[in-house]
Amino acid sequence: MHSSPTHVAIIMDGNGRWGKKRGFSRSKGHYAGAQAMEKIIDASIELDIKVLTLYAFSSENWSRPKDEVNYLMQLPVRFFKQKLPEFMKRNIKVLISGNTAALPESTKKVFSKTVEATKNNNGIIVNFAFNYGGRDDILQAVHQVIEEVQNKKIALENVNEQVIQQFLYTKELPDPDIVIRTGGEKRVSNFLLWQCSKSQFYFTDVYFPDFTKELLQQAIKVPGTSRNLSNGLPR
Ligand code: IPE
Ligand code: IPE
Ligand code: MG
Repeated sequence: MHSSPTHVAIIMDGNGRWGKKRGFSRSKGHYAGAQAMEKIIDASIELDIKVLTLYAFSSENWSRPKDEVNYLMQLPVRFFKQKLPEFMKRNIKVLISGNTAALPESTKKVFSKTVEATKNNNGIIVNFAFNYGGRDDILQAVHQVIEEVQNKKIALENVNEQVIQQFLYTKELPDPDIVIRTGGEKRVSNFLLWQCSKSQFYFTDVYFPDFTKELLQQAIKVPGTSRNLSNGLPR
């Protein structure tokens, strides 16, 4: 039997174009994306994926029109409130990667509540990358490491890759085995720059709202992404 990769990360792109193509607003596309996300979480559980990272808002996405940014900030508030019982029933542990301090109060609150409520669940880890930027991730880790050095908690000559890793937003997680990008663009858009150094990449033209379990299954069948062939990081 094919064993699934441990950590699958998805750049959920194409929501806006999905909406426009159907004569709807971009926001309707984002809503459809949230619904697809729910199906992809279920599919990941069925496929025995251990960690699913979902890129939902990048540190660059603030430059979008104000109404769209507001919609994207409120979407998780609705989604997480509604889905918490389901997360508990499915034993899902939720983590957030990104600069949460800069988020609106209501978004920050729903994230911390969900993380706290699901912290003892030991099924799949669903990691939302929200207000996430790969450069910001590395930069904030470097700031913390400098503080440790200044406070003499660690000597400069002992600062190595493992030390940096311990301060990343994703410190609790193994690196992704595969990064999937939907929506047709073939770029990384500031996602998990440190963490994807050994990851496989998979691109599909399908807009994220149309992404399905079958397509996910196809993506992770790519040689080199199965658990026994992957990068040997702690599981
Ligand atoms: C991805 O879809 C979701 C976010 C970035 C929030 P887009 O909103 O980028 O959709 P397209 O790429 O414009 O179609
Ligand atoms: C990447 O998509 C970010 C998310 C999916 C959250 P974007 O649509 O924001 O990226 P660019 O603008 O194509 O690089
Ligand atoms: Mg896009």
